[in-house]
Amino acid sequence: MDTNILVIGSSGQIGSELVMALRKIYGNNHVFATDIKQPTEEIRKSGPFQILDVLDFNNLLHFLVRFNITEIYNLAAVLSGNAEKIPLQAWDINMRALMNTLEAARESGAKKLFWPSSIAVFGPTTPRRNTPQTTIMEPNTVYGISKLAGERWGEYYNKRYGVDFRSVRYPGLISYKTEPGGGTTDYAVEIFFEAVKKGHYQCFLKENTALPMMFMEDAISNTIKLMQADAKQLSLRSSYNMAGISFDPKQLAAEIRKHIPGFTISFKPDFRQAIAESWPASIDDSVARRDWNMETTYDIGKLTSTMLEKIREKLEKKA
Ligand code: SER
Repeated sequence: MDTNILVIGSSGQIGSELVMALRKIYGNNHVFATDIKQPTEEIRKSGPFQILDVLDFNNLLHFLVRFNITEIYNLAAVLSGNAEKIPLQAWDINMRALMNTLEAARESGAKKLFWPSSIAVFGPTTPRRNTPQTTIMEPNTVYGISKLAGERWGEYYNKRYGVDFRSVRYPGLISYKTEPGGGTTDYAVEIFFEAVKKGHYQCFLKENTALPMMFMEDAISNTIKLMQADAKQLSLRSSYNMAGISFDPKQLAAEIRKHIPGFTISFKPDFRQAIAESWPASIDDSVARRDWNMETTYDIGKLTSTMLEKIREKLEKKA
């Protein structure tokens, strides 16, 4: 049987890159991109795209049956910063999006489901350094609470109904193609765009706020690796810790200065500072490395030079 993949949230920061990577592996016409927003030009030109609202259960189920979908990647979510502005709505959207895909996976032939969790599942009572896979989890943000509940539901659907649920706790993801929206780790993307455009960045976190981070290319290849892993290798059906590197705004600014010597940064922390402080500074991802060979290829230096180069190219093309 062919692998037919549905990506929900294909116009977002992760989706816009994941779709292209999946199309390379499985063929353009086997990867269906969907979102409530228009996609990138690359996605629109290379294969199928449809507007699909994951909150509409009947439409979702219909889509899965009609296109013989065998695997789903559900990336739709309201991120941490935005969720704090609309708590009940964010809870409703994040949970209903997940429950609809779990139910649709159970009812249709699409038994394999990827859903991202996040470092936001941890909270102020969690050990902050080298946070273990299994530890205290008392998140105090709406986003974190929804991700923790989602992990529990994913594991439940796996054990109870045999849905092949797979998940990682993404750290902050750094990319240049599509910008994130409303997250706490977004500073680590914004800083590069502002450095190239203005030579200055005003950061909404304090200079010494370390957070786990990963370059998008590593995040995508690990996500696909987890989905391709033999089910027998997976000792966990909740969500795997995953974080390549950790740094704070001051360290990142110093890396940027190696390429743009005049770059300056100032700090004006906002409400996201408290969110960042409740999250781990670094993550122990040894269980993912052991079970399915998770790996990272970008350190802070390679990440910085790649981001600056790609953003320059992008802005030159636009000009
Ligand atoms: N990058 C996300 C956020 O900041 C964390 O999963 O909301």
